[in-house]
Amino acid sequence: MSPILAFLGVTILGTWGLAAIALVAGGIILIFFPGDAQTSSGHILPGVIMIIAGGGMAAVMSGIVMGPLLGQDPPIPIKKLIPVSKLTRWVKAGSLRDFEDGLPKEVRVKSKRVLIIRMGDKAYAMGALCSHARLPLGGLAPLAPIKPEPVRDGCVMCPFHGARFELETGKVVREPFDSQFNSQHPILGGLQSKLWKLLSAPPVPPMIPKPSMKAETQQTYPCKVEGGDIMVALPPK
Ligand code: FES
Repeated sequence: MSPILAFLGVTILGTWGLAAIALVAGGIILIFFPGDAQTSSGHILPGVIMIIAGGGMAAVMSGIVMGPLLGQDPPIPIKKLIPVSKLTRWVKAGSLRDFEDGLPKEVRVKSKRVLIIRMGDKAYAMGALCSHARLPLGGLAPLAPIKPEPVRDGCVMCPFHGARFELETGKVVREPFDSQFNSQHPILGGLQSKLWKLLSAPPVPPMIPKPSMKAETQQTYPCKVEGGDIMVALPPK
């Protein structure tokens, strides 16, 4: 994410957050400490409306921020997979020596977020955001120290909810919140899967997408090593 986009995102969320807090606080003050308005008794309805509006804003915001962490799919359809035949633009993603063996690392390649996985003298590449809840397969740092998982059995594992993807094809070999992951990760797995089940239990109107606990095939990119550099094939401009 570019610094400008990050700044804009934080500003918008921060402004919304402050506005939500201000609305709820204003509503409480209006209802319980109306001052001069007490004489008119017209303070309760506006106060209730302000609290509901502030609470609604807070709920939308926490949905945006917390949804992915709780394993909920945001209502953004996953982009269609790009077939290999259309990936023809070879671009340098970095030097082989800059990547730790067997440890996925996210890089920007021509503004695209790509996960590079070095395996000895070979390298693989796939979309950097997990197809389950669009969280980074390469982990989060430094504020939320969730680290990338080393490759095991030819698979990349998402450090957030444990989905596993085949290195070469991007196919899902283990869904998120698998019982083994949940028992090994009591907060990210066990606790979140319980919260998710609670949140997804109430019926939702048909226009709102029902949260899914499933991952989808991850986009992969052809990748090769040439003269010590890792090259990735992207779609043409
Ligand atoms: S974001 Fe949930 S498994 Fe990756």
